[in-house]
Amino acid sequence: GSIVILISGSGSNMQAIIDTVDAGEISGHISAVISNRPDAFGLERAQAAGIHTEVLDHTEFKSREIFDLNLIRKIDDFEPDLVILAGFMRILTPDFVRRYSGRMINIHPSLLPKYQGLHTHKRAIEAGDKEHGASVHFVTEELDGGPVFIQASVPVKESDTPEALAKRVLTQEHKIFPIAVKWFMEGRVQLENGIPHMDGVS
Ligand code: GRF
Repeated sequence: GSIVILISGSGSNMQAIIDTVDAGEISGHISAVISNRPDAFGLERAQAAGIHTEVLDHTEFKSREIFDLNLIRKIDDFEPDLVILAGFMRILTPDFVRRYSGRMINIHPSLLPKYQGLHTHKRAIEAGDKEHGASVHFVTEELDGGPVFIQASVPVKESDTPEALAKRVLTQEHKIFPIAVKWFMEGRVQLENGIPHMDGVS
């Protein structure tokens, strides 16, 4: 099946997925990587992997709606079975989210439903949490609110800075995101009536 990955930055999560596809562990191929930022380092990672890349610079569009319409047009050229948001830092319009409902997933650096939004590591430290982590969820109209189907947790250490905690969480993101993609592409997890149904996943 066809996979399209949207990025805005470093693309380390995308890289983890590329590596898992290249290892033959995911039944599917990455048809394209699309970035809303021309300077995203992830574009270089994708090009190094021989993957088709596109840039849709959001600053060149008059509105969020027009940007999303153009993004839909680009994505649909690749007829994706799965759209992956991998460090894609854009708020998506409801029409966009609805179009890919059930076949669009995102990774968020927190143990959802805790800490939706930004600065999650700082917030976890300030709250005195003993554990933190990452979640992969289906994308719905609620920002970082979609149903979660895989999580990983890490300890928060006394001395942790947000950067140190982010680094520990990112290591786990690189583990769970490829697993999430694998499960989805094998048809072992799908969204039914807003709830992820998992059959036969270990
Ligand atoms: C990661 O922390 C991820 O959780 C968030 O964006 C950050 C950067 O990811 N969505 P990447 O290195 O660009 O994949």
